[in-house]
Amino acid sequence: MLATQTKAGIGNLLLERLEESRLRTDELFALVRPDSLYQRPIPERHRIIFYLGHLEAFDWNLLRERLLGVKPFHPEFDHLFAFGIDPVEGGLPSDQPSDWPAVEEVCQYVSRIRETVDTGLEASLTIGATSERQEEFPAAVLLNVAIEHRLMHAETLTYMLHQLTLERKLRRPRKPELVAAPVEAKMIEIPAGSATLGLSRTDLGAFGWDNEYEAHSVAVPAFAIDQHKVTNRQYLEFIAAGGYQDQSLWTEADWAWKTQHNLTHPAFWRQSDDRWFYLTMFEELPLPSEWPVYVSHAEAGAYARWAGKSLPTEPQWHRAAYGTPAGPERLYPWGAAAPAARHGNFDFHGWDPTPAGNFPEGRSAFGVADLLGNGWEWTSSLFQSFPGFEPFPFYAGYSANFFDGKHYVIKGGSARTAACMLRRSFRNWFQPHYQYVYSGFRCVSN
Ligand SMILES: [Fe+2]
Repeated sequence: MLATQTKAGIGNLLLERLEESRLRTDELFALVRPDSLYQRPIPERHRIIFYLGHLEAFDWNLLRERLLGVKPFHPEFDHLFAFGIDPVEGGLPSDQPSDWPAVEEVCQYVSRIRETVDTGLEASLTIGATSERQEEFPAAVLLNVAIEHRLMHAETLTYMLHQLTLERKLRRPRKPELVAAPVEAKMIEIPAGSATLGLSRTDLGAFGWDNEYEAHSVAVPAFAIDQHKVTNRQYLEFIAAGGYQDQSLWTEADWAWKTQHNLTHPAFWRQSDDRWFYLTMFEELPLPSEWPVYVSHAEAGAYARWAGKSLPTEPQWHRAAYGTPAGPERLYPWGAAAPAARHGNFDFHGWDPTPAGNFPEGRSAFGVADLLGNGWEWTSSLFQSFPGFEPFPFYAGYSANFFDGKHYVIKGGSARTAACMLRRSFRNWFQPHYQYVYSGFRCVSN
């Protein structure tokens, strides 16, 4: 009886979280003016209409046979909306709006899946029924995959809609700007110690993606790290010093990319006469000098070289975030408390960054600020498997397709990162030339 109740409780919680995550992505599609759903705001990605079908097709393809035991009703859409794209080195998609189904058809597909999934999950999760299918693929793991997949899209879809021109979306109110004095550029000494990366398989209550396993300890020599992320003001100094014209600051591949695209500033910036402006999700503002800068890995690396520093490795970032002078590591930079609004700018409370240094309660034991929230942070570490990696059998390519030496790890989180993905072991990754991520950086000296 107790086991059944516990299972029902966990099941209800997961169903609630699934519903909340649907609201997150529904609100994004509602921002797009109806005549703009077939736009492609980012050349390397699908048109917006794909994502409307994709989020449901993903859940359906994941759960239909394994948990629900029902037959497909629209195999063509199940296939059409199955996978996103991430072309490396050119090869942009060339499909036309007319290649995609009508919005009404996609919405009908979405509604029918939601109804079938909800009915099926309520039956299988809350009554406490078990089946051979659930033994093979635990329902809680599959549902966490569905929920976090959708929440990750709630963030990456935001990057995409950010690039949609302002007149194609409905404006949302912006929070009043927090006034802040410029942060002092200060580096913090981190003594030698160890950093635990990854998640242990024996931690049965925790969900992690395949790339988070296995937990392991890494020795980290002493280093110094910027207390704050690099701000727009600091990045402007790099531009004014000719950083985009000095080839010696860029790797060969990064220089070739920058030159090919004629880049002279971050993707979120605009220059008009001598003035700089910043394009937020809903408006254009005079450049907010104290917000962290959002740039590609290539631009972050060039800045770091100009400053005579480098980007942190993934273990260095962990050590600065979770290490303590006394030795034992923390669950979060601030301690063991669950992420709350006082700790940082994350979990959808706002759309924009806030000035650097606004969340003193979120600092790490070493005093490093804003590690979780207010923008992801590029590391110098290529995205690779941890020792003991095993792909999820039901989603074999999720991480393994990206262990290609062409993607870098980002850590932390942005204003649009869900709280559940602020766990220590969570890893995100992008190509070095992808400019649209809400990611900035801080530097280290070794
Ligand atoms: Fe996806």
